[in-house]
Amino acid sequence: MIDRRDSYWWKQAVFYQVYPRSFKDSNADGIGDLRGIQDKLDYFRELGVDALWISPFFKSPMKDFGYDISDYKDVDPIFGNLADFLSLLEAAHERGLRIVIDLVVNHSSDEHPWFKAARSSRTDPKHDWYLWKPKTGRRPPNNWISLFEQRSAWYPNEATGEWYLATFTRNQPEFNWRNPELREAIYDATRFWLDLGADGFRMDVATAYFKDAEFRSNPFSFNLVPNLLQHHIYDRNRPEIFGVFKDFRAIADSYGDRMLIGETHGLDPGLAASCHGSDDDGLHMAFNFDFLYRRWSARLFRESAERWYKLLPSRAWPNFTLSNHDQPRHYYRYRSGRHADERARVTATMLLCLRGTPFLYYGEEIGMNCEQLPRAYLRDPLGVATWPLRIGRDPERTPMQWDDTLNAGFSPVQPWLPVNTDYRRKNVATQKSDPASLWNWYAALLRLRKSQPALVTGTLTWLDAPPEVMAWRRSERRQSEGKQNLEVYLNFSGKPEAINISAGIVLQGTRLPPGQAVSAGRCVLGPYEVLIISQS
Ligand code: GLC
Ligand code: CA
Repeated sequence: MIDRRDSYWWKQAVFYQVYPRSFKDSNADGIGDLRGIQDKLDYFRELGVDALWISPFFKSPMKDFGYDISDYKDVDPIFGNLADFLSLLEAAHERGLRIVIDLVVNHSSDEHPWFKAARSSRTDPKHDWYLWKPKTGRRPPNNWISLFEQRSAWYPNEATGEWYLATFTRNQPEFNWRNPELREAIYDATRFWLDLGADGFRMDVATAYFKDAEFRSNPFSFNLVPNLLQHHIYDRNRPEIFGVFKDFRAIADSYGDRMLIGETHGLDPGLAASCHGSDDDGLHMAFNFDFLYRRWSARLFRESAERWYKLLPSRAWPNFTLSNHDQPRHYYRYRSGRHADERARVTATMLLCLRGTPFLYYGEEIGMNCEQLPRAYLRDPLGVATWPLRIGRDPERTPMQWDDTLNAGFSPVQPWLPVNTDYRRKNVATQKSDPASLWNWYAALLRLRKSQPALVTGTLTWLDAPPEVMAWRRSERRQSEGKQNLEVYLNFSGKPEAINISAGIVLQGTRLPPGQAVSAGRCVLGPYEVLIISQS
């Protein structure tokens, strides 16, 4: 029996994250923009993805490159204007592509008129929309830290004799979600974009909205990563958030088929899982970031996926992702000498063949790499504050490599971040014309998903395999076609691995050609070999 809810578009879709500054520059200022994305809409169809998540393009002083918003209902001139957004949305919908946008409402920009009013006086009606503590001395009220400045999260405000809270940069003051007017203002901005036709939201740091009512200090935790020197139990992950998720869900669902996916904290899949709500009344999806932190190991990936499936409440739908604009790209993380491309085929297959909605990050389809940038090129506040530690996020945000012309075809002028030095060799145009390229591997997998519903909605059963092989079966019973069974084998090892295989026909593989019959029994997978067979 097929559950009707499996037909929700976002369960069947493959998402593609566009970081708009770096995708395509349409007006020669070195920064990507909405018209640039629109010019490339056919590209998404060619590749075979179904939905875009576009990182923020709203009005912003760009202290955190758009994650600091100064007008929730307008487009920043760097990216275009509202008419450009509407035109992009319409053109996308004509092609059957959905567009999900970023909702950044844990904090605003310090240049938002709300904050300007709030900080002017303790009696201003907007004052209580943000978080304040009286400033009695030089010691901040507690030990909470600003992640991107690596210092106390409390900043003085002379006009009111108070501290305000900002746990990212000082330019991102945090909202007081306990204030009902603030909540209404945010819900109003949410409806604004839904009314325009946006297909949903990716909710930025969604488990951070509520802070401890008593502002207690976080307990110490031993860790080498500065941000993790404390357990974030009081400045993040408060239980009040679940009520707000229900509100958002009700708003989104009142529009029919819109979708909410939360950034609900990477390090705790259990917390992310709980954000779906116990009765399917929370977020439609909560990002599963666990793959971002896994070492190269079949066993660890399998354990991670298994754990995620177990943690999810019964009606929740899984999702997987390997890269985004905040973490080093997985091509870079998993590179191993000459085998980077082979490994990228293994991870692409894992991402696109597990049960759950996949999220791709722009450029992963050509294996974009991360290169170290000299100090003078750094733009990300985190990278600047932590230099020379190299934990900044610029390397994963470099311009998309379209072709081998000047600036990789991204812009005719010098881009805001340097293009990777490998662009002449590694770019979309070159890879599209090479049948053996990573781009064509992704495109073939995406076509396979379309022709094999079992890969999308089918059940998943793990198959016995040696520790360095990840193997599973996807099955689906369709009334007209009977049962469809499909098996995926991934050799994570650089050595041959023997497996036991069932008889079938190759659908896609790195060694065996599609259409070849394989017989049941022992089969030796070559190093990094990928094999997908159909048994129907
Ligand atoms: C999220 C975003 C990140 C941003 C931060 C503050 O983690 O993904 O890019 O800097 O929130 O808004
Ligand atoms: Ca531009």
